[in-house]
Amino acid sequence: MHIIQGQAITRTFGTGALTTRVLKGVDINVNQGEFVAIMGKSGAGKSTLLYQLSALDRPSSGNILIDGQDILALSETALVNFRLYTLGYIFQDYALIPELTAGENVVLPLLMRGIDWESARQTAQTTLSSVGLPDKYNNLPSQLSGGEQQRVSIARAVAGKPKIIFADEPTANLDSVSGDTVISLLAQLHREGQTIVMVTHEPEYTAHCDRVIYLEDGCITRTEDRTYNQVKDFKPAPAVSDNFARYQNPPN
Ligand SMILES: Nc1ncnc2c1ncn2[C@@H]1O[C@H](COP(=O)(O)OP(=O)(O)O)[C@@H](O)[C@H]1O
Ligand SMILES: [Mg+2]
Repeated sequence: MHIIQGQAITRTFGTGALTTRVLKGVDINVNQGEFVAIMGKSGAGKSTLLYQLSALDRPSSGNILIDGQDILALSETALVNFRLYTLGYIFQDYALIPELTAGENVVLPLLMRGIDWESARQTAQTTLSSVGLPDKYNNLPSQLSGGEQQRVSIARAVAGKPKIIFADEPTANLDSVSGDTVISLLAQLHREGQTIVMVTHEPEYTAHCDRVIYLEDGCITRTEDRTYNQVKDFKPAPAVSDNFARYQNPPN
C-alpha cells in the first residue's frame, strides 16, 4: 500500500527572469513500512522534494497524497494539525529549542497534541531511554554532543508514533560513530514497521534502505530496489547490534 503518492510534482521559486525550477515533474510513491533514501548531489532538489512529500511545503503543480490525504486540499490550519498528528521530522541541524531541556523538547509536541503533562513526561522519558539517553532529560541541547542532540530529535520525532518519519541529512553534521548510531536507530525503527523517508548524500548510510531514489537536477534518474537484491554491487547492511551495544553502553 502506498502511504505517499506523488505525481508530476513540480516546485518553482520566484517569477519572471528569476524563476528557478527546482523539481521538474517527479513521480514518487512510498510504501507503508518502507525505508526510502533520496540521494543526490548538493542542489539536486532533495530537500525541496522532501518538503513536498512531508507537507512542509506545497508543490507548484502535481498531486500529493499522504496517508490518503490530499495535501493541496488542506487549509493551513488543517495542514499544521495533519503534520502534528501524522508526521515526524528529523533535520540536519537537529532543530531543538535551545531554551528547553531534552525532555521538554520531546514533551512539547505531545502537549500540543493534547496529551496530559504527566503522560507526556513519561512518554518523553521512555523515548529518550529508547534512543540511549535515559539520563539526559534535564540537559539543555547546549549540554549535549551533536550525536546526542540528534538522538533527542529522533525521540521527539517518534514519541507521538507518527505514521511517517522524514529525515533530511540526519547524519551530515555528525562524526561517523554518531552517524552510525543515528542510522542504526532509524534501521531499528524501520524493523519495527516505521515508514521512513531519508535524504542523504552518503551512500554508506543507505545500507538499511529498501529503496534508493537518485535525484539529479530536479528529476529522478534512477531507482535501486534493495529488497530484491537487484543491485549487483549492493553490500548487505552491516549488523547493527554492535552499534546498539555502543549506544546502550557508551564507552564513557
Ligand atoms: N526557497 C527557495 N527559493 C529559491 N530557490 C530555492 C529555494 N529553495 C531551494 N532553492 C534552490 O533549489 C535548488 C535545490 O535546493 P535543495 O532542494 O535545497 O537541494 P539539496 O537539498 O539537494 O541540496 C538550489 O539551487 C536552491 O538554491
Ligand atoms: Mg538539502
